[in-house]
Amino acid sequence: MDSTPDTPPRDPRDELAELTAQLRARLARYVACGAWAAPGGATSRAEAEPAAQAPVREPNRLAQLRTELGECTRCKLHSTRRSIVWGVGDENAPLVFVGEAPGEQEDRRGEPFVGPAGELLDKMIEAMGWTRDSVYITNILMCRPPNNRNPQPDEVEQCLPFLNAKLQTIAPRIIVALGRPSANTLLGTDAPISTLRGRFHDRHGVQVMPTFHPAYLLREPDKKRDTWNDLKLVMAELDRLGIKPPSPAGDSAASRG
Ligand code: URA
Repeated sequence: MDSTPDTPPRDPRDELAELTAQLRARLARYVACGAWAAPGGATSRAEAEPAAQAPVREPNRLAQLRTELGECTRCKLHSTRRSIVWGVGDENAPLVFVGEAPGEQEDRRGEPFVGPAGELLDKMIEAMGWTRDSVYITNILMCRPPNNRNPQPDEVEQCLPFLNAKLQTIAPRIIVALGRPSANTLLGTDAPISTLRGRFHDRHGVQVMPTFHPAYLLREPDKKRDTWNDLKLVMAELDRLGIKPPSPAGDSAASRG
């Protein structure tokens, strides 16, 4: 947003952090499509052998990114949010879940997926043999839209460089996109979730599985079977890549009851 006579000038440190995040995201895109060699000589994920190549990661990179984000005022949501909801989990996780945006409870607590939809997501993750701590969970937007309305394009535009930088840092093998806004943003399409789910889509060499959002499943429990089928494809692909969950699927309390 440009400064106008009605708005105070922006803090130059915020502007610098924003430019840095955008530059990093652009370089990440170049690396992902093979147009630029990553530091350390890594090539695109698409060229990497399954499971064999450990991605080159800068230590504490997620914490650095969070510092670059600062007390973000890049879009209008800053004026109604209580917290910036960054993300939670293992920054080396092979499996990342991306939701839409924080809801009321997430906004209060500063952590993604801690309300009713989050409880269901935790059960889904545990039924797969993983835990909240061993995957990474984040959202397209880091601030709650008023009344939980859908993310707007200008808000997505400001948050996306940080999401891209997070994903570049974590370098997961699989991303599960929860719900249409997440799948549409990650895949650059406006197709309905029902036509996207059930198969992997390539995103710069990372496989994305779109599936139904847990909040939708709370309203439409009949869709849980389809969702579980999508997650079973994720589990099978991780297995094919030689990536084992911390506890085998089916052993967890979630899958027992
Ligand atoms: N719904 C989302 O998409 N994300 C959250 O963090 C909570 C609810």
